[in-house]
Amino acid sequence: MRNKIVAGNWKMNLDYQEGISLFSEILNMVGDETRGNQQVIVCSPFIHLYNIAQQSKDSENVFVGAQNIHQNDSGAYTGEISASQVKSTGASYVILGHSERRAYFGEDEKLLEVKLNQALKNGLKPIFCIGETKDERESGEFWDILAKQLKETVFLLSNEDFANVVLAYEPVWAIGTGLTATPEQAQEVHAFIREEIAKSFNQEVADNTSILYGGSCNPKNAAELFSQADIDGGLIGGASLKSRDFLDIINVFN
Ligand code: G3P
Repeated sequence: MRNKIVAGNWKMNLDYQEGISLFSEILNMVGDETRGNQQVIVCSPFIHLYNIAQQSKDSENVFVGAQNIHQNDSGAYTGEISASQVKSTGASYVILGHSERRAYFGEDEKLLEVKLNQALKNGLKPIFCIGETKDERESGEFWDILAKQLKETVFLLSNEDFANVVLAYEPVWAIGTGLTATPEQAQEVHAFIREEIAKSFNQEVADNTSILYGGSCNPKNAAELFSQADIDGGLIGGASLKSRDFLDIINVFN
């Protein structure tokens, strides 16, 4: 049975103390409850990672992730952070392929493939994002674009490595805009992604892959989105910065 996951992406928000306090609240509310195959992941700025990973090290369902890693092992890359450095904080996930990294930092499929391997080699599980822009959706070419985003990155991994990947479908037009994909639109894409996984690997691998929806997901729309057959949870931006909203989204699975 695949994992049901609610992951928060804090992006470049919260100072040190604010992040620590928000995480403590989340952990207090969900940390000790037995939640079966449900996982909560918080992807914070680098400054919070060590503290929050240590806070949650005994939790069976709350995990911590970074939002980026550099593609090289180490060296003269001023201002960058390596996968092994992230791993050494106790974090276990890293977001890769986010549309903000693609758009503002020029990350393309070629670079993302290197970063994926770098994460996996260092024991970090990638939360790998794909998604189309508004123009790409309207022109109808988005199916090809989504397939390319998969084929040139995660589909190049071995079965063993791919088993450690969580996928996230984040339509760029829905991120931070208040515009959410309808449950039907999201389900259609999630089903397509699962079919593509089955074609590239096999049906069992496809059935075991968690595919999250991201883009203006909030306590009001989460239940309907997460009830779709191929939507296994969400990657939450804005609503993960408020403990009550994030918890309400997490509790959709209870
Ligand atoms: O990675 C999460 C994301 O990009 C969605 O952000 O603020 O629309 O929930 P938001």
